[in-house]
Amino acid sequence: KRIVILISGRGSNMQAILEAKLPVEFAAVISNKAEADGLAIAQQHGIPTAVLSHKGFDSRESFDTALAALIDTYQPDLVVLAGFMRILSAGFVRHYEGRMINIHPSLLPAFTGLNTHARALAEGCKLHGCTVHFVTPELDHGPIIAQAAVPVFDDDTPESLAGRVLVQEHLLYPAVVHWIAEGRVSLENGLVRVRQDR
Ligand code: GRF
Repeated sequence: KRIVILISGRGSNMQAILEAKLPVEFAAVISNKAEADGLAIAQQHGIPTAVLSHKGFDSRESFDTALAALIDTYQPDLVVLAGFMRILSAGFVRHYEGRMINIHPSLLPAFTGLNTHARALAEGCKLHGCTVHFVTPELDHGPIIAQAAVPVFDDDTPESLAGRVLVQEHLLYPAVVHWIAEGRVSLENGLVRVRQDR
């Protein structure tokens, strides 16, 4: 399977996927921010990188159209969103239906959007975690593939909790990419299908 990873920043999930020795080909890492730290990490791994800034486009749709054209030059089987901090238009999402996944730092459907760790603490949650899901047009609402949970401790700060969740993100996301690459997990009629016989 050919994989394109989209990032906007640090790229630690991207790094975890690149270093997991998966039976896949990383066609490119694309960032919407030239200053994203993850770009250098990708280059150290010998992965082609590209930057397409959303600035200079006059609408979300025009940026998304250009982004899809760039992604498609790499002919990916799977598009992996790894801290890609852009809301995606419905047309873009439909174009990659069943072929695009995201990791979100909460136990969805709780805490879609930003500042998930602070919000989980404010609600007094005793469990928190991360979710990998197929991407659908509604933000952070796609069919859930896998989740990992962590305990919330009384003395947690958003930062300490984020760190505990991130450890799990780095285990969960490569595992899900592996399952999809092996054809063990797919999206069929809007539902996640898991094959037990592979
Ligand atoms: C992660 O917490 C991920 O769940 C969220 O954005 C963060 C990206 O971190 N979508 P990194 O760029 O992978 O280090």
